[in-house]
Amino acid sequence: MPFDRGLGHNARALAELVQSDDQTVRFAFPQPAHEILHADETDQVYYQVLGAKGEFLSGDSELPLPQDDEKLVTDELRLRDDVRQGVPIRVAYIWVRVKPSAARPALVQVAETLEKRSVLANEIIKGVMLPQFVILPLAVLLIWLALARGIQPLNELEQRIRQRKPDDMSPLDESVVPIEVSPLVSSINDLLQRLQDSIATQKRFLADAAHQLKTPLAGLRMQADLALRKDANADDLKQSLHQIGRASIRATHTVNQLLALARAESSGAPVAKQACDLSALTMEVVKDCLPRAMDKHIDLGFDNACDSAGLQGNPTLLKEMVRNLIENALNYTPSTPEHPGVVTARVYRNAKHALVLQVEDSGPGIAEAERERVFEPFYRVLGTEADGSGLGLAIVLEIAHQHGAILDLQETHPGRNPPGAQFNVVFAQP
Ligand SMILES: Nc1ncnc2c1ncn2[C@@H]1O[C@H](COP(=O)(O)OP(=O)(O)OP(=O)(O)O)[C@@H](O)[C@H]1O
Ligand SMILES: [Mg+2]
Repeated sequence: MPFDRGLGHNARALAELVQSDDQTVRFAFPQPAHEILHADETDQVYYQVLGAKGEFLSGDSELPLPQDDEKLVTDELRLRDDVRQGVPIRVAYIWVRVKPSAARPALVQVAETLEKRSVLANEIIKGVMLPQFVILPLAVLLIWLALARGIQPLNELEQRIRQRKPDDMSPLDESVVPIEVSPLVSSINDLLQRLQDSIATQKRFLADAAHQLKTPLAGLRMQADLALRKDANADDLKQSLHQIGRASIRATHTVNQLLALARAESSGAPVAKQACDLSALTMEVVKDCLPRAMDKHIDLGFDNACDSAGLQGNPTLLKEMVRNLIENALNYTPSTPEHPGVVTARVYRNAKHALVLQVEDSGPGIAEAERERVFEPFYRVLGTEADGSGLGLAIVLEIAHQHGAILDLQETHPGRNPPGAQFNVVFAQP
């Protein structure tokens, strides 16, 4: 603090004036120095010099003594607060070492009243603290107003969202929200749009599924009515029963395919996987399909060109995938005893060492324009004779996705007529 520094400076100057010889300690105080000491306008300045035996040498006798302990450190400037005749003062003092070494040191003290200091303190309070008292509440008020104003549109937005009907998927109005939250609103709108699309897809799926089931059930009902006619003979009855059998097979097939798709989708959670042997699974399916292939005079074969054990997958789903691909090939490949169709399943590793499941046939293939659409649920190529629900390839695609595999569709013999269809499922995992 600058005032302490000035006070200390004076104490040191006075300490310089203490002289001693072997017997006495003297203090010579020239007049100019005396005047400098009293040059302060605002404060009273006191000084005091005590000799080696504590005797009063010069200055003001009323100044209190320092409360230092026995071991007096000499020639070191010290400061303290004290009181002189009830008036608080600030004191700078030095114990001055004197010649007779056994004697006590002399004491030089300079003190001043605290007028200047309190004036300064008042100035500081007036100049700095008071404005703070005004500015701070004002700032708080302004911030509060600004926040309230800024949050208001958010509150309105919240109200609007709360008041929505559960089926209202219309986008939120982006123009009435603050610019800072408009990206948030736009991403909510994006989500609403996707939700709307997904709900629409599900509704369509449900309608298609209901339709697919309704047709064979209506057939069942009609055949039952026919059989119950009074004039129906044994042949008619047989015919109706035959039709009823077919219709119920179709209905069962559709239900089974719906269940398979539901299993494959498994509501977004990843399916349980284990190490599977893709060749062994494919082989099992091929064996199951042999009777049907023989009925149709189709040459069904299986090529196994690699060790496929260790593929991480769900065996039930993988078999479902192979079954759908092979059944399609058998269903849609025309075959006669004279011109037998050829269906081949293969498991091999491609040039990039990825495991590939391939099912190809010698049938009509799938026209370029239909190649995307055949993977949609319930989509069937027009003019297809074989029965089916249109879910097989949707199931295959879903299972391929669940296994991180890529599904592609090509021609078995490009340029030939018929070109044949070739499905490849490429597993990205090693
Ligand atoms: N190997 C193939 N050769 C020619 N066309 C095919 C072949 N595989 C599928 N398709 C065509 O793609 C359509 C969709 O096949 P998908 O397996 O999804 O349904 P589906 O066979 O009609 O019914 P599901 O498999 O559910 O019994 C079929 O209707 C058929 O027209
Ligand atoms: Mg199919």
